[in-house]
Amino acid sequence: MKITDLFNVKNKVAVVTGGSRGIGEMITAGFLANGVKVYITARKAPALLEKAKELSEKYEHECIPIPCDLSTKEGVEDFVNQIVNKENGIDFLINNAGAAWGEPFESFSEGGWDKVMDLNVKSLFFLTQKMKLLLTTNASLDDPSRVINIGSIDGLNVPALPTFSYSASKAAVHHLTRVLAAQLVKENILVNAIAPGPYPSNMLGAAVNHDYSEIEKRNPRKRVGTPEDIAGLVIFLCSRAGAYTVGETITSDGGIVKTASHNLS
Ligand SMILES: NC(=O)c1ccc[n+]([C@@H]2O[C@H](COP(=O)([O-])OP(=O)(O)OC[C@H]3O[C@@H](n4cnc5c(N)ncnc54)[C@H](OP(=O)(O)O)[C@@H]3O)[C@@H](O)[C@H]2O)c1
Repeated sequence: MKITDLFNVKNKVAVVTGGSRGIGEMITAGFLANGVKVYITARKAPALLEKAKELSEKYEHECIPIPCDLSTKEGVEDFVNQIVNKENGIDFLINNAGAAWGEPFESFSEGGWDKVMDLNVKSLFFLTQKMKLLLTTNASLDDPSRVINIGSIDGLNVPALPTFSYSASKAAVHHLTRVLAAQLVKENILVNAIAPGPYPSNMLGAAVNHDYSEIEKRNPRKRVGTPEDIAGLVIFLCSRAGAYTVGETITSDGGIVKTASHNLS
């Protein structure tokens, strides 16, 4: 019952997609600081390699970069093959890489639809499918493997911006989480989702010119999310403490979804 046992993730192996910056970097930092070996992937190789080196040095734990484009099935297969060549099994798969697209309804493009749905939904499904064998290798009834899908509060609330495919993709991630959870719990792989609210990143920053002051003012907690907020939740879900939580979508948004006044009317 001690916290050091309940939340222990030491000596586990994790894969964090989109680990080169933003929320993926925050999750990776939390894992490394607590003794997890982490594979990170992103498309831009120089930034990814530099980030892996920086995080390995800072947390004195192994962070291994594998540059890959997960938006295609070939990219997904290539990435999985590279992991298979290095590990017999993995414990945690964090499906974090994602894309957003905003365009007025009247001119919303097919490219903006496909780019978002392909990466956020299709690739997440096929990566999980192809990682199953690796996850099963390390899974047992007492110590199940974990998959965490990063959704969004935009998949729960109606977003203010014209991000039609993004909000639909994140609602799909949340439901796919339940469907995958039902499929994989039989094999001791627990699937859950996290729906983040505003966290500083390239994705959110691009929408507000990297000025988060208005977002902070509107947030019930009067701030944006921090690495501790997201890493703490991921570690809970991956540890003994989270081993009876299955198919959930947990918000990490300072209270937007559950307390915003338009949801109470
Ligand atoms: N920040 C927020 O406020 C917020 C809120 C709700 C949900 N989310 C979700 O959180 C996740 C992370 O978002 P973020 O805000 O941290 O975004 P971000 O700063 O744009 O980071 C996205 C990460 O994904 C990688 N990536 C993008 N496309 C990829 C591809 N085709 N193949 C492999 N890697 C790819 C990026 O690296 P490369 O560009 O080098 O590929 C980067 O490492 C996303 O699923 C997003 O929808 C974010």
